[in-house]
Amino acid sequence: PETGCLSIIVLGASGDLAKKKTFPALFNLYRQGFLPAEEVHIFGYARTKISDEELRNRIRGFLVDNKAASSKYSDDVLKFLELIKYVSGSYDTEDGFRRLDKEISEHEISKNSHEGSSRRLFYLALPPSVYPSVCKMIRNCCMNKSDLGGWTRIVVEKPFGRDLESAEKLSTQIGELFDEPQIYRIDHYLGKELVQNLLVLRFANRFFLPLWNRDNIHNVQVIFREDFGTDGRGGYFDEYGIIRDIIQNHLLQVFCLVAMEKPVSLKPEHIRDEKVKVLQSVLPITDEEVVLGQYEGYRDDPTVPDNSNTPTFATMVLRIHNERWEGVPFILKAGKALNSRKAEIRVQFKDVPGDIFKCKKQGRNEFVIRLQPSEAMYMKLTVKQPGLDMSTVQSELDLSYRQRYQGVVIPEAYERLILDTIRGDQQHFVRRDELKAAWEIFTPMLHRIDDGEFKPIPYQPGSRGPVEADELLEKAGYVQTHGY
Ligand code: BG6
Repeated sequence: PETGCLSIIVLGASGDLAKKKTFPALFNLYRQGFLPAEEVHIFGYARTKISDEELRNRIRGFLVDNKAASSKYSDDVLKFLELIKYVSGSYDTEDGFRRLDKEISEHEISKNSHEGSSRRLFYLALPPSVYPSVCKMIRNCCMNKSDLGGWTRIVVEKPFGRDLESAEKLSTQIGELFDEPQIYRIDHYLGKELVQNLLVLRFANRFFLPLWNRDNIHNVQVIFREDFGTDGRGGYFDEYGIIRDIIQNHLLQVFCLVAMEKPVSLKPEHIRDEKVKVLQSVLPITDEEVVLGQYEGYRDDPTVPDNSNTPTFATMVLRIHNERWEGVPFILKAGKALNSRKAEIRVQFKDVPGDIFKCKKQGRNEFVIRLQPSEAMYMKLTVKQPGLDMSTVQSELDLSYRQRYQGVVIPEAYERLILDTIRGDQQHFVRRDELKAAWEIFTPMLHRIDDGEFKPIPYQPGSRGPVEADELLEKAGYVQTHGY
């Protein structure tokens, strides 16, 4: 591993994302020894004028030390907080960034016993509107200057643009300042255990290789449900909606890993090449294969306009024009304020030809990968009903992670991904051309929604979403299976 001091700079340090995700992930990495105090310093940067101590106080409550026995703030929490300094400044003038650079450089000098290079990781926990100016300030004022080498990297969060045009513009602006290997576009779904498992599952198991195609698979669903609404994020959400918030990124990334061809190797570029190819093979989505919804009460949020048409629910069918998948519907479905919180992939196989058991009514073989909660994979299959006669019943082959890997702590997505950024591994990050291909799929539909041509159907909070979505599923050929 590289040595030398490592400065992690969290921009937008007083915001929600930094408090809830970035700092807790850094804390977990620290606790596991990945961020040794002799090398690492963490800087928070934001506009608010507060002291180091005030920032630490704001973060403290979000750092949960599972191992700590009784006292709320363990030694680890206190030592971690000691590593954090705060610098305030604006996002579009050099003054603050020059002060930031001075602080980073002082830290680098004080830790130069390593005589290594200096590594600077800038985490932009900020709205995309300020990315261009912040990137420019970093470029002008804060780049690594060590003669001994090292690097400067930036991590950017979604939403990366609003549509193809704005995303490309943003990519060009940032691309003029940083090279692609320095840019880490984070999609935290790529850090989830069972999402990372997809490649292994598909390409290391003989079971799946011959079956994973249009000859055997009838349809695939990638589903995201939340049982809460926009919860104080109405203002942000209303500008983006469920397609930009969840489907264009999280679900589409999962879709890529389910549908792409086998990469030449596990090298990040090989994997991302395959993702781009499958995205480019997606046909335009037709209006008949989209259902949008908005939960009742969504507009009661004072930050949401009374006439908002922003969808909080969407189900749509993607079709891939290639040899493996022609004719197989890939159904992407996401919704807020539904009846449960769950993210899963359901791969439904075709009926058995020439069925002699007449077991069709029990449903098809289905392979389910539950990303959360309670990671699991199970296969629904038909077995003989135990007993004297030959009747059949649906049952499951079940791999529940909690039972099978008792005592194994599954790392948080952000923890894993931040470690990757430090190690320089871009496998689980979105490449520029991949992002472009993703926006190409959704932009025409998003523009029609923005223009008010496509209206969401109201649905009851706590329900399954609009019934029209279930009808669309049926039309696409999904057959409800029994059992789980
Ligand atoms: C975020 C979305 O990217 O993902 C949120 O902006 C959503 O709206 C969240 O709630 C879901 O993440 P997870 O990991 O809880 O499924």
